[in-house]
Amino acid sequence: MAIHFDEASRVFYLHSKGCTYAFGINSLGMPEHIYFGSPVGEDLSFGKYSQTGRSHVAIRTDETGKAYDLSAMPQEFHTPYGGDFHTPSLVLSYANGSRRSDFTYTGFEILEHKPALKGLPALREGQTLAVFFAAKGVKLTLSYTVSEKAAAIARSMKIENLGSTPVRVEKAHSFAFTLPNLAWKAVYLTGASGAETHWQQTSLDRGVFTLDSKRGTTSAAMNPALAVGLPETGENQGQAYGVNLIYSGSWSISADRTSYGSVRVSGGISEFDFSWLLEPGESFQTPEAVLAYSNEGFSGLSRQFHDLYRESLIPRQFVKKPRPVIINNWEGTRFLFTLEKLKGMISRVAGTGIDTFVLDDGWFGKRDDASSGLGDWFVNEKKLGGPLKDLIDFTHGKGMRFGLWFEPEMVNKDSDLYRAHPDWVIRTPEEEPVEAREQLFLDLTREEVRSFIADTVNAVIRSHEIDYVKWDCNRDMTEGYSLALPPHRQKELMHRQVLGVYDLFQRIVEANPNVLFEGCASGGSRYDPAILYYFPQVWISDQTDAPARAKIQYGASLCYPLSSQSCHVTESPNRRAKHLTPFGARADMAHLGATGYELDATKLTDEELSRIPGQVAAYRADEDLVLEGDLYRLEAPVGGSNYFAVCLVSKDKTKGKLTVMRLQENFNEPERKLFPRGLDPQVRYYVPELDRTMAGNSWMHFGICPKFPDGDYETQVYHFRKENT
Ligand code: GLA
Repeated sequence: MAIHFDEASRVFYLHSKGCTYAFGINSLGMPEHIYFGSPVGEDLSFGKYSQTGRSHVAIRTDETGKAYDLSAMPQEFHTPYGGDFHTPSLVLSYANGSRRSDFTYTGFEILEHKPALKGLPALREGQTLAVFFAAKGVKLTLSYTVSEKAAAIARSMKIENLGSTPVRVEKAHSFAFTLPNLAWKAVYLTGASGAETHWQQTSLDRGVFTLDSKRGTTSAAMNPALAVGLPETGENQGQAYGVNLIYSGSWSISADRTSYGSVRVSGGISEFDFSWLLEPGESFQTPEAVLAYSNEGFSGLSRQFHDLYRESLIPRQFVKKPRPVIINNWEGTRFLFTLEKLKGMISRVAGTGIDTFVLDDGWFGKRDDASSGLGDWFVNEKKLGGPLKDLIDFTHGKGMRFGLWFEPEMVNKDSDLYRAHPDWVIRTPEEEPVEAREQLFLDLTREEVRSFIADTVNAVIRSHEIDYVKWDCNRDMTEGYSLALPPHRQKELMHRQVLGVYDLFQRIVEANPNVLFEGCASGGSRYDPAILYYFPQVWISDQTDAPARAKIQYGASLCYPLSSQSCHVTESPNRRAKHLTPFGARADMAHLGATGYELDATKLTDEELSRIPGQVAAYRADEDLVLEGDLYRLEAPVGGSNYFAVCLVSKDKTKGKLTVMRLQENFNEPERKLFPRGLDPQVRYYVPELDRTMAGNSWMHFGICPKFPDGDYETQVYHFRKENT
């Protein structure tokens, strides 16, 4: 059984594929974290952390007089006061103003099927343990879902006010666990719009290390993910733990290295400007968090996240289905396209294997720049030279499918929607709302706003043959106020807005089950597992320069499968970076995700055009590796490294692919050897690029010295094919 309660020791054992998580109920009735790591037997003891023998500590005693130092105790959630001086994960305040909660255990339930989390995306499957606690009329439920697909568990918490007076939730992190006193280092992803998911590393020393977003969206500045490892942990060896929040609003993850040396890790909705009033009878559900483990380093950890998301999170009908190969007009034309230009682009690439044309921003309302039109989801027939249907028919006539861009959560002041409903935006009563990209957030806490948007967007999709939708969100929240909420509930806005976004996603995705949705938020400002619950892929950055992209894609793969990363070939020199990057190298980088092209196709040279069919065919030949393969990161293009290198291997190990980019050509640079990983040591693989066959073992230990043509940003790709297949 994956979840088991040992009555004698009062220990819960949770066994996922490849990891065990254990905690026990101590004699105070509190849940003590015992273990998280490689699979172990059900013979663990606990309690040794409870009494530290230290002097001058606050002591709580049980009925028998046994003493506990709560600050030292690794708990499954931490409340303030009562002897606990470190970072709390749950803060409730009661009607009399008190903030101390002495929760005690009341029981548990094991559910064979994963219950849905009301209004929130979450893993779709897995046996689930619900453990109950009570204090001051509040019922607390900790939920743990195990996975048969990956070394991971999912955690969330529900708070119910069963009392007769209001309770305020001031902080409610989704999970908490404690790492023992070892020399942990943290890996995390930071950046900015256009430079998302850059890999960072630091040591977890004394103090509180916090990652967060206060922007109301996931944010490009930090991704809701934290990985930790020991000094010896590298990409492909050592123990690694990872946490990732299934959430798209303001969030925080903290690691508190206590005076006992242990590290309290917790994460969930950000405590910044958050509180939630629970009237008697009301409940609050936190988002879900994923905790993953690997003893094969950070790459191994990524494979756990990838497997879990592909098997249990991303919409099933799309996750393993070959993706469309896109031509998107945005980088080619921006807002200023004409019907002739679009038709020219479509015609130019027709028959190359590119199979879907996506019309980006600018097709609706009055929209020739970012200043107007958002919210007016009706076709601008003047700009398109006729009904949208004509362009769609034209696209179909060229043998391609059609996709369309929307940004449903937003409105420009210069729009019919804003003129009709100025009160529908998020704003404070006294101040003018701050504009970002000349647009405002619609107030999605309001049912009538959500219904209006869902109806208008659904009407456009339903009345046309649309196979693909790019759903954008181009700003962060700047106002913590909703005109629709009473003053004492204003700190609920940020989370209520996210719940509104999920409701909108659900209504539109559900109404169009055959449409493939791509998430986007000025690139990767909203790239998190919650988005992947609705949208199988995300435009992860507006930075499309291949060498810059190497950093972004490398970091993004920490948690997110390659199939969830839309990666397009764009023009060179790159629009912003001005790097001159070979056409083949741009394609090689774009083939490490859901691929496409995003440039003015009418300007493709004949030579470039003639190479596209080969590029698309190469992509299709190995698309299964992107959709289902195992990723081994070999070399990060950061910290002075001149290389990006990753290896993809099929689950059955019959094929693999090593992609390497050399960033700069350095005169007389010494040769660089790379060691592929993940191959079957005994199987003989033919590598066509080297016209050579060796055993997997030999390839992995003897390695490959890539030979690059002269010049910067060159790539080499090596394919491994099991002999005689
Ligand atoms: C954002 C997206 C781009 C494009 C524009 C359109 O910046 O990231 O890909 O869709 O919006 O306005």
